[in-house]
Amino acid sequence: MQTINSLSALRAATRAIKAADKSLALVPTMGALHAGHLELVEEAKRRADAVAVSIFVNPTQFGPNEDLDAYPRMLEEDSAKLRAAGVDLLWAPSVSEVYPEGFATKIHVAGPSSGYCGGARPGHFEGVALVVTKLFNQVEPDLACFGEKDFQQLAVIRQFVRDLDINVEIVGVPIVRDSDGLALSSRNAYLSAQERAAALALPQALQKARDAILAGGQIDRILASATDDVLAAGFSNVDYFALADAQTLQPVTALNGRPTRLLAAAKIGKTRLIDNLAVE
Ligand code: PAF
Repeated sequence: MQTINSLSALRAATRAIKAADKSLALVPTMGALHAGHLELVEEAKRRADAVAVSIFVNPTQFGPNEDLDAYPRMLEEDSAKLRAAGVDLLWAPSVSEVYPEGFATKIHVAGPSSGYCGGARPGHFEGVALVVTKLFNQVEPDLACFGEKDFQQLAVIRQFVRDLDINVEIVGVPIVRDSDGLALSSRNAYLSAQERAAALALPQALQKARDAILAGGQIDRILASATDDVLAAGFSNVDYFALADAQTLQPVTALNGRPTRLLAAAKIGKTRLIDNLAVE
């Protein structure tokens, strides 16, 4: 595995991959890699001849009161995992390589950015759209793999890739869960043992809500009762517990034959967790 920190070296490495007529997949990450990220790598390996992973804790997607400084950084451990997973290229740029002095461009994606995490974290999806666009222009992959765990992020990425005619196939990869059902997340590392046990209420509430919706229950009532269950389990607040169209993320008040998704975000202790589940 080649580890690359400068854009000129990256260009040389990707040129060599293309010259060998190999397809290239990108797995963008912020590091602190867990089994969910490694599943993205596996999917990328199934779909392309060569795999690049980026590790970049992107400052533009963190709000002023968020965990940018505290976000776990463990490049050595991460690169050992990627090497063992058979990754060809690790792109680990510095902040100044990605955002040199004088950087002035923003990307705003309307539609699926609104509400949910976009409401609770103003500017977050602008930062994601900006860095993902830059990563695509830097690495020039044929395809890129993203986890369905960040379901709104995936919808936002699909939207701007379509809108801006970006020639990268976007692959959504199903959520990887611990054996008890909690979705894997780099932020799970912040949970105390007690919070970790209580956090299970989130995926459990999603499953209960999905079953009740499929059984024909009243959606508003089901979402309200799921919110109550999560709060009763020890979460301090629920940002949202919603049913949305899986593509536009518009709220759904009655099943209409289109794919829909339950989306939830809630805070336990100092940690904000998100999760989602298909209703089909
Ligand atoms: O999902 C993430 O880890 C990040 O939001 C991403 C896509 C790597 C952009 O920084």
